[in-house]
Amino acid sequence: MNQEEFKKMCGEAAAREVASGDIVGLGTGSTVYYTIKYLGELTREEGLGIIGIPTSKATEKIARESGIQLGTLEEYQELDIAIDGADQVDPGLNLIKGGGGAHVREKIVASAAERFIVVADETKVVKELNMAVPVEILPFALGLAMKKLSEIGATPFLRLAGSNYFITDNKNYVIDADFGALSDPQKMEHEINKIPGVVDNGIFSDMTSEVLVGTSYGVKTLKL
Ligand code: A5P
Repeated sequence: MNQEEFKKMCGEAAAREVASGDIVGLGTGSTVYYTIKYLGELTREEGLGIIGIPTSKATEKIARESGIQLGTLEEYQELDIAIDGADQVDPGLNLIKGGGGAHVREKIVASAAERFIVVADETKVVKELNMAVPVEILPFALGLAMKKLSEIGATPFLRLAGSNYFITDNKNYVIDADFGALSDPQKMEHEINKIPGVVDNGIFSDMTSEVLVGTSYGVKTLKL
């Protein structure tokens, strides 16, 4: 089995956690893609009736094409469940997200959900979070945010898309802030967000209800 099959396995398993009538946060990325496709299939073939709240323009498109009815946070502020991928998951179920630059909307949507289920293939599960933390910033604050991130211990890299700056769905920039291993993810999440001009960062501490991991032995559930 390969990584893609692990993604499909856990992505589809998460879709089975959704019940008819649910308001469902739809994450972004290549793993939750399988969740969304499968929810579409269940909608068309088994009459599953849900309303999806997408976390990005890309997800909105996939969900729409899959036949899922969509809503917004303007209409619904209480979600039954949100499902999303992650770039890294630690034993405390803290996450780093934002590899695709969608973490701000992802965190907003996950925070509104009663259950937040993460789907990840086994390569994402680590002992300690150590990848660079995606930090979305207002373009106005770029220079200052780079300086302030360095002052709190990061090596900051402005994210590019080809020869241009990467632009989020919110029309902001992303700095990938490399702190090395994060000994206290929650503290760092708050520390970064104190920097003026930072919209939010990709550390998700104390949010995850469970993680469905795709492995060669099947889907493994991680819970605290
Ligand atoms: C999007 O910005 C991210 O937070 C994704 O949810 C995360 O990067 C996981 O994506 P994959 O499932 O594609 O690895």
